[in-house]
Amino acid sequence: METRTVATNPFLDQRAGTSGLRKKVSVFQQPHYLENYIQSLFLCIPDLAGKTLVLGGDGRYFNRQAIQTIIRMAAANGLGHLIVGRQGLFSTPAVSNLIRQRSAVGGIILTASHNPAGPHQDFGVKYNGRNGGPATEQFTDSVWANSREIKEYQIAISSDIDLEHESHTALGDMSIEVIDPVHDYASLMERLFDFDALSRLLSGTFRMRFDALHAITGPYATDIFEKRLGAPEGTVLNGTPLQDFGGGHPDPNLVYAKPLADLMFSAQSPDFGAASDGDGDRNMILGQGIFVTPSDSLAVLAANAGCIPAYAAGLKGIARSMPTSQAADAVAESLGIPHFETPTGWKFFGNLLDAGKITFCGEESFGTGSDHVREKDGLWAVLAWLSILEHTRLPVRDIMLQHWQRHGRHYYSRHDYEEIPAETGQEIMDTLRAQLPVLQGQQFAGRQVHIADDFTYTDPVDGTTSQHQGIRLLFTDGARLVFRISGTGTSGATLRVYHEQHEKDPERLQRDPQRVLRDLVMLGRGLARIEALTGRKAPTVIT
Ligand code: G1P
Ligand code: ZN
Repeated sequence: METRTVATNPFLDQRAGTSGLRKKVSVFQQPHYLENYIQSLFLCIPDLAGKTLVLGGDGRYFNRQAIQTIIRMAAANGLGHLIVGRQGLFSTPAVSNLIRQRSAVGGIILTASHNPAGPHQDFGVKYNGRNGGPATEQFTDSVWANSREIKEYQIAISSDIDLEHESHTALGDMSIEVIDPVHDYASLMERLFDFDALSRLLSGTFRMRFDALHAITGPYATDIFEKRLGAPEGTVLNGTPLQDFGGGHPDPNLVYAKPLADLMFSAQSPDFGAASDGDGDRNMILGQGIFVTPSDSLAVLAANAGCIPAYAAGLKGIARSMPTSQAADAVAESLGIPHFETPTGWKFFGNLLDAGKITFCGEESFGTGSDHVREKDGLWAVLAWLSILEHTRLPVRDIMLQHWQRHGRHYYSRHDYEEIPAETGQEIMDTLRAQLPVLQGQQFAGRQVHIADDFTYTDPVDGTTSQHQGIRLLFTDGARLVFRISGTGTSGATLRVYHEQHEKDPERLQRDPQRVLRDLVMLGRGLARIEALTGRKAPTVIT
């Protein structure tokens, strides 16, 4: 194999955020840009020579070109074995699973998650380490440091590798295994869930729709629901992954998965509806005329884990990200198991999962998962819900009502102000931070601030601390108001304001969350001076 050492320019803007390096496709298409980043990354993997790496992406525009470049660089950098998904495809949870099953040193996932795809949209590179989870902050910081010093990269000179068929090939000393991207993941699901029971449910009168939004979960969902579980053809909607995701925004929420939401709130509604995002780690759950918030979903899954064979022995603990509602805490307390509150981002769950402190974890941003992989997992959540529906034979609405009757309802809503200038985002957070000392103890419309702080997390496993993870106002009645700036946006800043209020009165469990939370919303807008500083009268997205 012939390789080349190419001289390159450092100091490109290559700082990865919480979900890897995400930029416009045109940025990745600049000469040497992708190569610089991949070389900077390879330099951070200790003892790379001869090791196994997993490689694939969500199929978005530039996936095919990027994957060929990375294959050439992997060979030139001395990797021993590469596991690549057929056609360069893998969902994020599938990569996490393969890293673990095949004892790989790590995996590269080509995705910008739920961000739109296409020549003028986003692309991304994400690295997961040997536990199958997102790279640590320390790792991404060293990749960034390398990218500012890098002067050259190594690349093999070769024609494109054929990724259309399953095969065993080689490039120089590196063997390449092109595999079915679905098989190992679907087998893992078969081990966790009772597929016989689920197929009895799905091949009967029960009807579900799963919207893959033209992204990566299409082939996974078709194989699992329609082939293995016998659901009627047509159960999976938009199941063919397209390079531009059909021009849509593959984010499973009420705004971007509107056709599915409309169906579930119509007279023709099937029993159950679900959707996943671009790379398959997020999920949205719907019943007939009801939307289950992700915070509630985590709580309900935890309360009913006994319906799933893999978790029938009980959960070790539950973790949620700080902005996620406290609904899961209530379940943990009733089960007598520990619960943890981590900063936003899946990587914080990794240590807790590895240390065996938790079994389930979730985020309000449509992320739910367990110790079966080290990523959130959209299809896992759908199968978990199906298991509960099969076991109880109750509609989603009744499951929710019973849950709220037992634990109270944590009314919840997130308001996003997207694409505000970065400096304005900073100013809002500074404005809030400056008020923290005086907010403590204050009364607002009959409720008192019990704690006002900037969330700091100390990892219970390794003792590391993460500061400035969001401004929190905790009230004595259990209500909360949280503010943070998104770490995943690609232009300007996105301010996220999270509102939560607990209701125990059985007569008041079915109210409109926006009405219930109105006082908190107004208080948040006022304290952060949102209109004065941004000129915005309303958020761009409400979930
Ligand atoms: C968002 C979500 C966060 C999630 C991340 C990656 O990050 O809020 O929960 O882990 O995407 O999917 P944010 O943009 O808020 O930083
Ligand atoms: Zn995603």
